[in-house]
Amino acid sequence: MKEQILSQLSPGYPWKDRFHYIESLNSTNDRLKTMAKQGAPHGTVLIADRQTGGHGRRGRSFLSPGGVGIYFSLLLRPECAPTELMHLTCATAAAMCDAVEAAAGFRPGIKWTNDLVCGGRKLCGILTELGFRPNGELDYAIIGIGVNCCQRKADFPPELQDIAGSLAMVTGRDIDRAKVAAAMMEALYVMSQSLLSGKEALLASYRKDCITIGQEVSLVRGDEIRHGKALDVDDDGALVVAFPDGKIEHVNSGEVSVRGMYGYV
Ligand code: BTN
Repeated sequence: MKEQILSQLSPGYPWKDRFHYIESLNSTNDRLKTMAKQGAPHGTVLIADRQTGGHGRRGRSFLSPGGVGIYFSLLLRPECAPTELMHLTCATAAAMCDAVEAAAGFRPGIKWTNDLVCGGRKLCGILTELGFRPNGELDYAIIGIGVNCCQRKADFPPELQDIAGSLAMVTGRDIDRAKVAAAMMEALYVMSQSLLSGKEALLASYRKDCITIGQEVSLVRGDEIRHGKALDVDDDGALVVAFPDGKIEHVNSGEVSVRGMYGYV
C-alpha cells in the first residue's frame, strides 16, 4: 500500500521522505504525537490500514476496521500562536473536500465543524490536536482524519447504518484507497502552505461547502438542547446561531454538538 500511495503522488510533493505507513496500530494521532515529541519534522504523515483505538472528539471512538478506510494523521509545526490556528479544522475540512473531489469525483458537504457528509451520511471525521512546549508556546499541530472508503451499508454496525456512509456507497464504484490517500496528502500540503497567509480564502471555501449554514439546528450541550438557525461560521470557526428570542450567539465546537432538526445532518 505504501508503494501504491507513493506512486500516485505528484513529482512536486515535497514530503515523500516523511511518509510512514503502518498496517495496524492503536491510533495514528496518538502514535504521531509520540513521534512529534521525539522530534518528527513538519510534514510527517502517518497512515494506517487499521486502528484498534481510533478516537474522535469528546472521547468518542472512531471505528477503524482494516481494508476499507484511511486512517491518516499529519504533523504540522506552524510558527505562530495557538490562537492563530482557530480555523485549522475548517481549513482541513475544506482541503478534504478538494481531496475527495479529486479522488472520487464528487464534492461532499461539510457538517459543522468537522464531518464530511453526503446524502445525509457521515463519510469522514476530523480530529485536530495541539501540543505545547513547557513555556506554553505551540510545539505542533496534529490533523487526524478518518475516511470511510469501501464500506457497504451492512458493513457498519446497526446503530451506524443510517448515519454512516462511504465513498463507495456514494459513487456506486470501487474506491482506490491509495488514490484517496495521495489526494489527501496533496490537498493538505497545499492547505498547509496558505494556512496562516490565506485564512480568508480557506474560510470562504469552508463556508461554500458547509451545509449547516442556513439550517435550523439543535444545539446539544450536556443535557441541554436549544434550537436555532445557523447563520454563518465566523473567522474562528464558531457557528453563528440566531435563537427564537432574537439573540445571536457564536457557539464553539468544543462546547456544543449540532444536529439537524430531523436527523444527524
Ligand atoms: C470525529 O469524527 O469526531 C473525528 C474522527 C477522527 C478519526 C481519525 S482516524 C485517524 C486519526 N486517529 C485517530 O485516533 N483519530 C483520527
